[in-house]
Order: sequence, then structure tokens, then C-alpha cells
Amino acid sequence: MSTPDLIESEAFIRLAEHPDINVLFGSGAIHSLGEEAAKLGSKALLVTDAGIVKAGHAASAQASLQASGLEVTLFDQSIENPTSACVDACTVVAKDAQVDLIVGLGGGSSMDTAKGCNFVLTNGGSMKDYWGIGKASQPMLPLIAVPTTAGTGSECQSFALISDDETHSKMACGDKKALPKVAILDPELTVSQPTQVTAYTGIDALAHALEAAVTRDRNPVSDRHARTAFALVQDNLKKLFSNPEDLTARGYVLLGASHAGAAIESSMLGCAHSMANPLTSRRGVAHGAAVGMCLPAVMRFNAELPAVSSIYAGLARDAGLARHEDTDADATDAIVTHVEHLLQLAEFPLTLQAYGFADDELATLAAEAVDQWTAGFNPREVSVSDVEKLYVSLFAGSTCEDKGVEACS
Ligand SMILES: [Fe+2]
Repeated sequence: MSTPDLIESEAFIRLAEHPDINVLFGSGAIHSLGEEAAKLGSKALLVTDAGIVKAGHAASAQASLQASGLEVTLFDQSIENPTSACVDACTVVAKDAQVDLIVGLGGGSSMDTAKGCNFVLTNGGSMKDYWGIGKASQPMLPLIAVPTTAGTGSECQSFALISDDETHSKMACGDKKALPKVAILDPELTVSQPTQVTAYTGIDALAHALEAAVTRDRNPVSDRHARTAFALVQDNLKKLFSNPEDLTARGYVLLGASHAGAAIESSMLGCAHSMANPLTSRRGVAHGAAVGMCLPAVMRFNAELPAVSSIYAGLARDAGLARHEDTDADATDAIVTHVEHLLQLAEFPLTLQAYGFADDELATLAAEAVDQWTAGFNPREVSVSDVEKLYVSLFAGSTCEDKGVEACS
């Protein structure tokens, strides 16, 4: 892809096995929003956040929608880690405007808010009623997802991640009816994100590919998406870190992140995400930083299973990180080393003490991590003790004995 031209990525649609998702990919794809929306409705709710409005992307989206004759109602109050209250506020606006179409424009949070609103608007109740899979009995409105960060892959997923206002639990609410009808991937929209956000979201996409590739639920569909995602993200993320203006690299990372999202939709995630969530909820560690910090240790832990090591080795060989004659162990080592190299380039702290964690929190963190939904999909069963040892490895210069944890295996 020398120039990320506007194309209908039919190969992607076939790979996704989501025949209802029409993926538009390329520079300027945002200008096709109105044309696509007009096929699905006439009164659109545009769900976004204040930062996206400031960057001018909401105005571009609104102009495209209006040029195609749609009425547009704006909800620009999406927040990071959206809560049930945020979804309820969005739903009130949607109900008043009697919308028949929803457009989620922004990072994962705006798309989660848009999906959450769709659940409550069409099926009633509140978000906690949809915690789990397939809880919506009524049809939902068509949704168009327009990501402005290359990371979550939410545009290819049927899940909304919403926090409960009272318990602060992150609720994964999924239903096939919540899957976007159209995903518009325009790399130009990602240029406005701060460099640090590019690093966080890019590393998150990398982790999505590597975790979804090996989960217990891995299957041929997730395998194809995860392979494509890793191939696209690993090389282009490196280019993007050295030149944030590289629009072609941005395009590839954005496309890769969507493939990773489709892989998650098919096979879920693993222990790096389980370990990351308590770090975010307790100290506000950015999701991408938390996942990235945990990823190499989790990959080494999972690679103890020969079948998993074989998958990592295959990814390493395909990416030219290892030779075909290398053993699986050596090729796995090469891919983990490459991940560590990318993490260094991302330039965020990679130790628990850098985020203010103390030794006496390890057991609690580990207990919370194994309780996460994603832990159940990790290819290797994880106990509290296993995770505690993995956390110990994230304290620079520490050993399990230092921390009073039974000797690391
Ligand atoms: Fe993630």
C-alpha cells in the first residue's frame, strides 16, 4: 500500500466472516460516511467526545452526514472508560431526537458509549442488564463505527465495555446485534491523537493480536485475523514510532488493529489483559501501557505449552523475526524480544514501581487478575500464585524471594 487509497476491503470482509460489516479503508474514507449512513437511516446520533470535536473530526462527520440529507444529533460527552451514567445520558439524547441510526466516532470509549446507548435505547433497562453475551432480545439500530485511534478494534466487535457506576466493575456487554454495520477506517483521523496515545493504542493492538492468537477458543477465523493483525502492526508500529507523520504506516496499524478486533470477537483475550485491568483500576495506568508491561512475561509463561510456542514461532517466522530452521523455542524467544523492543520504543515505564505499586499489593492484584473474564481464555490455566509471580517479574531487579513469594518457576 504505497498510498492508502479509498477501497472497499472485500478481502477483509470475507476474512471477518461478518458479512454485515462493510469496511471502508483509506485516506479520506470519512467523507463516505454520509453515503453509507443514508443506506441505513435518516436521523443519525453522532456519539463522540470533546477532544474529537476540538480536532474537527466531528464537524467532518456531521458535514458528510448532512450532505447526504441526514438529520444529525450530536452527543459529545463520551468519557474515557464510559460508565452506565454516561450511556444513560447518551440514551436520553437519542430518545429525544428519535434517531434511527447511531454513529460512534472516536476511540474505543466513544464506540463503547455508542454501542451501550444502542442496547439501552432499543431494549430498555440499564447496561448491567446486558452484561454477558446475547442478552438483547429486541432488534437494535444500525451502527457505523469510525475509529480515530488504531488500537481497540471495537469497530469489528459486538462488545461494549461499560463500567458500573457503583461497583466500578468493567462490564463486557456483547450481542451480535450490536456489531457495527459499517466500519470506516481513515488513517487521517488518527493523526490528531497525541504521540503517547499512538504508543498506548498501538501496543494494545499488538497485544490483541498476540493474545487472541493463542487463547483456548482460538480457531481458524481468529488465527487468520490475528496473523494478519500481527503482520500489519509489528512492522508498521516500529515505523510509526520513528516517524509519527507516516500516514501509510498509520493506515496499516489502523487496519491491523481492526483485524485484531475481529480476532478478539472470535477468540477473546488472555492473561496480559487480566493482569492489566487491576493496574488500570487501582492506579489509572493507561490500558495500553498496562497490557504492554504484562505481555512479554505472559507470553513466556504461555510458551511453556508447546502448542502455544508453536503459534508464536509461526508468527515470528512469518514476520522474518526468526529463520525457518530455528526451533520453536528460539523463534518464540525472538518474537518476545521483538515485543520488548517495541515496548522500549513506545517509551512508557515498564515496571510496577514506576506506577507506585508496592510489594504488599501483589497478592490482591493477583487475586483480582484471575477473577477477570479474560483469564478464563488464557491458553495456560493461571492461579493466583502464577499471576503473583508474573507481577513480581514486573518489579525491576526483584526476585520472588525478595517479595516473599514462593520461588518462581
Ligand atoms: Fe486491550
